[in-house]
Amino acid sequence: MRDNVMDSDLVLDVKGVKKSYGGVEVLKGISFSLHRGETKVLIGPSGSGKSTLLRSINHLTHPDDGKVYLKGEEVTDSNIDKMRARIGFVFQDFNLFSHLTVLDNVRICQIRVNGVERDKATRRAYEELERVGLSDRADAYPAELSGGQQQRVSIARALAMDPDVLLFDEPTSALDPELTGEVVKVMQQLASDGMTMVVVTHEMSFARQAADEIIFMEKGYIVEQGDPQTLFTGAENERTRAFLNVIAEHG
Ligand SMILES: Nc1ncnc2c1ncn2[C@@H]1O[C@H](COP(=O)(O)OP(=O)(O)OP(=O)(O)O)[C@@H](O)[C@H]1O
Ligand SMILES: [Mg+2]
Repeated sequence: MRDNVMDSDLVLDVKGVKKSYGGVEVLKGISFSLHRGETKVLIGPSGSGKSTLLRSINHLTHPDDGKVYLKGEEVTDSNIDKMRARIGFVFQDFNLFSHLTVLDNVRICQIRVNGVERDKATRRAYEELERVGLSDRADAYPAELSGGQQQRVSIARALAMDPDVLLFDEPTSALDPELTGEVVKVMQQLASDGMTMVVVTHEMSFARQAADEIIFMEKGYIVEQGDPQTLFTGAENERTRAFLNVIAEHG
């Protein structure tokens, strides 16, 4: 058992998070932790609470109960702006600023939120665009890019903030199948570079290759969690097995 207080590698510690909507509890006390360099993949049926859990971590959804610690510091309403700057979030629908170029999308939060000087922010933006293979599209507007390219810009934008952790909520599910691969490849590279990430995805090739642990959620609970090898070959829980079979068949 790791000791949280002494554990300097502990990046994210989620403890007993609960959330209800209209009297229905959609998160029933979720706890998990994430260490530096770890990638955890969160799976589960539609409505199981995956997005609500990710959004509760940085208070895009306000949790009713429970606590979230980022590197030992509790995420609270009073420090949320500072905490959000340290928690990268990649959304299903990219969420880029449509009136800004790719370059401005990637540098604006560095400048406005982190107070980084403009030239430095520009250099960092190009580095991150290079990393996602888009440094040649810096002057384009989001509408001029494919969905896969837009999602890679959104990843570059998150990375440019130097986050402690990156959260991905179904980053490829709005993409045509032929564009999914280029985004998955970037995420696999990030995982092998040692980025700390929580990824909601049904891309099982990514889960197999990049996840240190897969967490299976259903109806607001964590039903089972384990390394990909164990879960894919011998999940203990019948519902985990059934779910994995369904996504193996239908992608
Ligand atoms: N803002 C909201 N208001 C009311 N109910 C909500 C809200 N957000 C989520 N819910 C409900 O909470 C439950 C969990 O939703 P959530 O979006 O977290 O599921 P999910 O696992 O991400 O599903 P999906 O795979 O479809 O994205 C669902 O029943 C959903 O209808
Ligand atoms: Mg969701």
